[in-house]
Amino acid sequence: MTDRIAVYPGSFDPLTNGHLDILARARRLADRVIVAILEQDQKTPLFSADERIGMIREIVGGDTSIAVASFSGLLVDFAGRSGATIIVRGLRAVSDYEYELQMALMNRRLAPDIETVFLMAKEEYSYVSSRLVKELARLGGDVTGLVPNFVRQRLADRF
Ligand code: PNS
Repeated sequence: MTDRIAVYPGSFDPLTNGHLDILARARRLADRVIVAILEQDQKTPLFSADERIGMIREIVGGDTSIAVASFSGLLVDFAGRSGATIIVRGLRAVSDYEYELQMALMNRRLAPDIETVFLMAKEEYSYVSSRLVKELARLGGDVTGLVPNFVRQRLADRF
């Protein structure tokens, strides 16, 4: 049987403990998970794509079933090239749902054979977002417990 491959796409600017929790859950559904970082976005990222790849590799590096890559263009094209049949997205609150539904349906229209799967992180991460983590770090707040220690250090270096 061929391996079941999932893509877990996002900006990951930076990776949070919520992302890591989703990744661990995705790993239970698929044989291999590719963390796929969107390279060019409208938003100006705090960390470059290479920095984000480096940070995520540093954290999940020991697990050979997880790959980290960047992509540009359509996610479904990247997923297709990678042999992935699953797109994993994390859902926190109802407010995430509308955008995620639109994206999942658009991706399904583009690639009917790729299934989007929504996973819920632990409740304690339900309010954690990269955007709020950056704001907290920028204003001198403590991000301990919200992001891996390695990311916490990188945030402290940046601000
Ligand atoms: O973590 P984010 O920023 O919410 O992730 C959004 C992401 C990267 C999953 C989404 O913007 C994306 O897939 N962009 C690539 C272009 C694409 O395929 N868009 C969806 C169909 S139009």
